[in-house]
Amino acid sequence: MKRRKFLKVILAFLGSITFVSFGNALFRLLLSAPAKAAESKKIVIRKTEVPYGGAKNVIWGDTAVVVINRPEKGLIAFSRTCTHFGCLVEFSKSRQKLICPCHGGTYALDGTVESGPPPKPLTSVPIKIEGETIIIG
Ligand code: FES
Repeated sequence: MKRRKFLKVILAFLGSITFVSFGNALFRLLLSAPAKAAESKKIVIRKTEVPYGGAKNVIWGDTAVVVINRPEKGLIAFSRTCTHFGCLVEFSKSRQKLICPCHGGTYALDGTVESGPPPKPLTSVPIKIEGETIIIG
């Protein structure tokens, strides 16, 4: 085998390996991305875990969420991340509000700002009621 032909064979071999490696990585990336997104999309809790007039904190994907069972208005869910500087708000059963421990911002149970520095309402999180379960996400 001549030197030139040998180099062509080697380059073709290396090119094939590179192509297969990138193709494999791309294929795995495309397959895994939707699966991960689907995993973090929904979580299910029982309705009994959120008492009337109470709330339950859950983690939905990377988001801290509070699910609230509002008297006479039903279930609702929000991201617990305060819209001021990102502290996690806490549900106050006695005051029926969400309160930020960092700078005292308060939110009504519909997520709107009632007082303090938060510039905008809490981000709502979709929920769906199916029988005795609450599907979050
Ligand atoms: S971070 Fe919530 S009021 Fe400042």
